[in-house]
Amino acid sequence: MEIIRCENLSKIYQMGENKVYALNGVSVGFEEGTFTAIVGPSGSGKSTFLHLLSGLDRPTGGKVFYQDNELYQYGDNQLSVLRRRRFGFVFQSYNLVKELTGMENILLPVMLDSRKLDKDYMDHVIDILGIRDRLNHLPGAMSGGQQQRVSIARALANKPGVLFADEPTGNLDGKSGREVLQLLRQVSHDLGVTLILVTHDVHVAEQSHRILFLEDGTISRDTAEGN
Ligand SMILES: Nc1ncnc2c1ncn2[C@@H]1O[C@H](COP(=O)(O)OP(=O)(O)OP(=O)(O)O)[C@@H](O)[C@H]1O
Ligand SMILES: [Mg+2]
Repeated sequence: MEIIRCENLSKIYQMGENKVYALNGVSVGFEEGTFTAIVGPSGSGKSTFLHLLSGLDRPTGGKVFYQDNELYQYGDNQLSVLRRRRFGFVFQSYNLVKELTGMENILLPVMLDSRKLDKDYMDHVIDILGIRDRLNHLPGAMSGGQQQRVSIARALANKPGVLFADEPTGNLDGKSGREVLQLLRQVSHDLGVTLILVTHDVHVAEQSHRILFLEDGTISRDTAEGN
């Protein structure tokens, strides 16, 4: 079953006289529980695509469906509730609140949503990510890889259906980057979370189920289609 899909998704920026086609009519679906890597040159529309799929931005054309929900039919408030409850995000910059401990950072989105944390589930996530001994530390006392692992736990706290990651290893050295990637694959596999990940790194992409190549705002190649 496809958990998320888009139809003719577009984002056009009007820059004075010129139009920039950041995303140009993309239609594609993602099977539940799979790991897809999105690759392509700088400026090809990878981040734009991820932001539109995940409701972080609004398209200038086309539709996105999460299960039976058409995202952009909703107003901003409803859309942000859906996003908070169904999606997780991991960015290149870890975006942790530096005055809060690891555990407080992880709990923050669930608390803001006035929801109860599933403690057994969260314990499982913390074990997979290997961050139990970092939970009482402030981000400043963590390595980059540890901060990113905490931010992955935070993204998973609401039990999202889809985890979006935009260059999550971009700020890490090779070894920490590989560890973080391996953990993302593992949480996706163990928890059945659909993972959609943007990367420049071909080695990262090779570990996915599927690679989508973006060029000039369109999909130039999709390994799921056998090419
Ligand atoms: N707010 C904006 N206004 C105008 N043009 C924009 C805006 N955001 C993005 N673009 C343009 O849209 C295109 C796609 O940008 P996007 O950030 O999605 O690329 P990307 O593939 O993520 O690149 P990178 O690998 O460098 O992160 C680029 O040409 C970019 O300049
Ligand atoms: Mg980008």
